[in-house]
Amino acid sequence: MRSEININEIEANKQKEIMERLRIRITDKSKELGRPLTYCSVCFGCQMNAKDSEKLEGILETIGYVRSESEDADFLIMNTCTVRENANLRVYGRLGQLKKYKKKNPDMIIALCGCMMQESLVVEKIKQSYRHVDIIFGTHNVFKLAELIENKLNSKGMIIDIWEGTTEIVEDLPSERKYDFKCGVNIMFGCNNFCTYCIVPYVRGRERSRKPEDIIAEIKNLVADGVVEVMLLGQNVNSYGKNLDNPISFAQLLEQVEAVEGLQRIRFMTSHPKDLSDELIAVMAKSKKICKHLHLPMQSGSTKVLADMNRRYTKEDYLALVDKIKTAIPDISLTTDIIVGFPTETEEDFNETLDVVRRVRFDSAFTFIYSKRTGTPAATMEFASTEEQIKERFDCLLKEVQDIAKETCSKDQGQVLEVLVEGVDEQDASLLTGRLSNNILVHFPGDESLIGTFQNVKLNEAKGFYYLGERVE
Ligand code: SAH
Ligand code: SF4
Ligand code: F3S
Repeated sequence: MRSEININEIEANKQKEIMERLRIRITDKSKELGRPLTYCSVCFGCQMNAKDSEKLEGILETIGYVRSESEDADFLIMNTCTVRENANLRVYGRLGQLKKYKKKNPDMIIALCGCMMQESLVVEKIKQSYRHVDIIFGTHNVFKLAELIENKLNSKGMIIDIWEGTTEIVEDLPSERKYDFKCGVNIMFGCNNFCTYCIVPYVRGRERSRKPEDIIAEIKNLVADGVVEVMLLGQNVNSYGKNLDNPISFAQLLEQVEAVEGLQRIRFMTSHPKDLSDELIAVMAKSKKICKHLHLPMQSGSTKVLADMNRRYTKEDYLALVDKIKTAIPDISLTTDIIVGFPTETEEDFNETLDVVRRVRFDSAFTFIYSKRTGTPAATMEFASTEEQIKERFDCLLKEVQDIAKETCSKDQGQVLEVLVEGVDEQDASLLTGRLSNNILVHFPGDESLIGTFQNVKLNEAKGFYYLGERVE
């Protein structure tokens, strides 16, 4: 193991040296132009991708690029998602638009990375039809961005560097945080579950956990830097630590995170129901810092469909787990993901899904129409229903989850609860937006200086998915 640590340290140092060289080159270029060089970072997909984008932005800022929200920048990086077909289509649409910027500014560099780039068919298509792209890399070598930029500046062609997988976790590179007071922290990468509909294990590789000491050190640094809330990130946090040299459970990791002084709130994503342990429920129930929110993707309520999805739990297992959680943590807010129209789903199976939704009464549910991902086992399954039937089911489910969520989310009306103030309300600048422990938002009058602080707020009016409130001293 020692040699692996050294390889990672050597790699991090190499990247830092390249960043220094690039910084000089970029400073020279901006002197020549009489203006700073800008970068624009676009991110699709989940929190894992958002976290990767923060790392990419950290590297870009370190080498001297200045952030811009406009795609008309000197360096544009698009971090892509391929979980559903429409995520891909959005990227191709945007890419077409970029051609005109590159015509105006031939020195512009366009880089593509993320999950979509791990698919060879995608890379082939870009090589053929989108020649204006300069750099393509994947999910395993985000830490190499500086090296890829340097390669690009030294050569004319398209730079392509996609890794099939990796065992490396390169620590200690810069990261540009989106918020001062809260931050995502990777605890593991990849996924071993191979749900039959899902592309993630193919594009993110096998499960790798970071060492607890690295995670805790990162969180302590973040806290010293003003962070009060962390979101621990992994595709399946409940299997954290199993493949470490010194195995440790996710619940044990949470206890270590809880002990970090100055840290006030802990969130995590995502929990797979099959691995959610009694130990975790017990740790959550007694914790002062873990938020009262659990995202527990159910995908389907039909035991048959769940088996076809390779989820490895039944409808009854899921309901029993929810009961256990609600008994141990009565004020928990439960949210979920549901797929409608999985190939083998019939009307009867869908009714099982509705049944679970009605029994659990989720605070919110992300609902998706099944999207075929080439290369996954479900892609070759025959459809038991027509597109029209699936669309009808989707509309019906959406209405049901929204009606229930409106009621469930209103249950704390009239109470005074603590929020972490996250920013100014996007719709009304006289209001602030705060987040309750259970993840629901509250809008209330207040001054910008409160951003990043905890405030007690009276929840005056439930508006369905959020509250209007007022601050109480
Ligand atoms: N690791 C997480 C989910 C990551 S993907 C978990 O297992 O819970 C986020 C969500 O996208 C999934 O929960 C699923 O509901 C949805 N999803 C994944 N693949 C999909 C597909 N092929 N079609 C439609 N929805 C999909
Ligand atoms: Fe995809 Fe399943 Fe892994 Fe989640 S657990 S990322 S749905 S394969
Ligand atoms: Fe998308 Fe990749 Fe996340 S496919 S959902 S960005 S892991």
